[in-house]
Amino acid sequence: MAVKTIEWRADRVRMIDQRLLPSREVIRTYADYRGVAEAIRTMVIRGAPAIGVAAAMGVALGLKGYAGKRAQIRFARVAAALKATRPTAVNLAWAVDRMGAVLESNLALDEAALFRRIRGEAIAIYTGDLAANRALGRHGAELLGAKATILTHCNAGALATAGYGTALGVVRAACEAGKAISVFADETRPFLQGARLTAWELHKDHIPVTVIADNMAGSVLRGGTIDCVIVGTDRTAANGDVANKIGTYPLAVMARRHGVPFYVAAPLSSIDLECPNGAAIPIEQRAASEINEFAGVRITPKGVAVFNPAFDVTPAELVSAIITERGVARAPYRRSLAALKRDR
Ligand code: MRU
Repeated sequence: MAVKTIEWRADRVRMIDQRLLPSREVIRTYADYRGVAEAIRTMVIRGAPAIGVAAAMGVALGLKGYAGKRAQIRFARVAAALKATRPTAVNLAWAVDRMGAVLESNLALDEAALFRRIRGEAIAIYTGDLAANRALGRHGAELLGAKATILTHCNAGALATAGYGTALGVVRAACEAGKAISVFADETRPFLQGARLTAWELHKDHIPVTVIADNMAGSVLRGGTIDCVIVGTDRTAANGDVANKIGTYPLAVMARRHGVPFYVAAPLSSIDLECPNGAAIPIEQRAASEINEFAGVRITPKGVAVFNPAFDVTPAELVSAIITERGVARAPYRRSLAALKRDR
């Protein structure tokens, strides 16, 4: 995809504002970690790996001009602000902690040298995610036939990562391998990541995409045109339970009902072996206005309650395989995921 999701340029962080897509392509520039934290919270940037990269770059901005003990004190404040933005995606905490570890092993450096080292680590997290997506894509593409129609939910594409995508990375790799791939994209209420973002980036890359309302997925699956479902994940627990955008779980139930494989594209940075199962994954609750308003216009009666969890958990038993950059994991996931994470 030609448009960059996020970029470190001239010691500033640049992001395309995903809230405005597909109508407008606006680039926002941040020179301060607080701006990056706000961008994550308000979903200028979203998608688990992308917010991990943004958080790493936010730490680099936050540590500029600090060294030694002062840098440690500053890091505690910056890390807390970034980690408080969105709780479900483990990539965020993973990236911040990785930056913290680099700081701890470079406390003897002066301000300029420390900044160069910290900035280098943030950029390494960015390039590492790109490489992981490409490798994951190649492993996933092998699961597909020469012609395949894929149903996906939310946006696990270039916009949700440093680039290329996880679920949509599989789509891109299969296309690059010469396979005839088409995609059905759930619109993904309430934030419409499918209708706005998945449709936008696939259409830009000339990959055939058809948008459906979320409540159409059951009859589309029953119709027999879908070869597999592929989704991303914000956090996959040690037992293979998968947290992803709200609406993923019912899709997995329906896929099982219709004998359609349900695949999860998960870079290792999204797999949390310290989290024993899905019940331990924190689920973000978002503002009522995402449900009771549409494009700024109120659509529910005043005074009526709203429930708006941003993610759900799909139990491991409904997951046919988890695709990572080091290969494809199958049940029992506790063993296969641990082996892939270990395999250096
Ligand atoms: O609320 P969002 O848009 O950040 O949710 C994103 C998802 O649910 C994605 O599927 C997940 O982060 C994986 S992105 C590769």
